[in-house]
Amino acid sequence: MKVSIIGGGGLVGSCAASALQFGGIVREIALVDVNQDLVEGQALDLLHGASLTSDQRIIPSGPEGSKDADVICITAGLRRKPDESRLDLINRNVALFRNILGDLKTHGYKKDAIVFVVSNPVDVLTYLATKELDLPPNQVIGLGTVLDTTRLRSMLAQRLDVQPSQVQVTIYGEHGDSMVPNWSNAQIAGLPLEKYPGVTSTLIAEVEKKTRGSGAEVIKKKGGAGFAVGVSIADVIHTIALDQQRILPVSSLQNGAYGLHDVCISVPTIVGRNGAVSHIEVDLWPKELTALQRSGQVLRETISKVLGG
Ligand code: 2OP
Repeated sequence: MKVSIIGGGGLVGSCAASALQFGGIVREIALVDVNQDLVEGQALDLLHGASLTSDQRIIPSGPEGSKDADVICITAGLRRKPDESRLDLINRNVALFRNILGDLKTHGYKKDAIVFVVSNPVDVLTYLATKELDLPPNQVIGLGTVLDTTRLRSMLAQRLDVQPSQVQVTIYGEHGDSMVPNWSNAQIAGLPLEKYPGVTSTLIAEVEKKTRGSGAEVIKKKGGAGFAVGVSIADVIHTIALDQQRILPVSSLQNGAYGLHDVCISVPTIVGRNGAVSHIEVDLWPKELTALQRSGQVLRETISKVLGG
């Protein structure tokens, strides 16, 4: 499988490429970027470690690098300022994103390609991509709250001194201020979270607050996320590449789950080679359902305001 990473010269794109290299599952990675020197440097740096990682083709490319890609991952975009919300970012990123979509249309893309949006605000830009590209909606997905979910799981595990891989709690909704942690279905090693030693409502509130602020905190401390968003991207791409049919909180166009329509947002989604295969309506607490629908409304209003659609 070939993956193109648009914005492959940047921090997010290059960390995603590195995670894919360590994963060794995809066969070819095209790093696409307007900054040719930077993208050549990233490809070279990755290639230097190839004999210790995996046998792949890793090539710097211009915009034509996506035309034969099975997964087109779009990471290019301006980053938020620490005090800026993701939605504030949209006006600066919509124009850039439209240019990227224009390049894809100019150079072409495979009819079975999966377009995987990471650029922020990811839900709104994913929606824009579903409207602008001539692909079935299930073939256009966004990273959504996958990164938020791994952050929450990892930080909750640290607070409770348990293994991160055994923490099962997922965030749905907007990748942004209105995200919705699904505490009602949270477990640790198959045990209900609320029965686990040390779990209190105060601890849960503290970890949730830290998760909500994680993006801005990383931006403030080091300029932007890299490692965690890179492995989050790779996890979704590997699920596509292996057609694993896993349930992931990716962002995709909604057609009725939880009463959500005509908006791209994260709900429980079966992901495979065909992208967002189907949405699963798991039971939520009433307050979680209300928050999810509110999140959808926030995104719908933004889409109407900024994209006019
Ligand atoms: C974040 O939360 C990049 O939006 C991403 O760090």
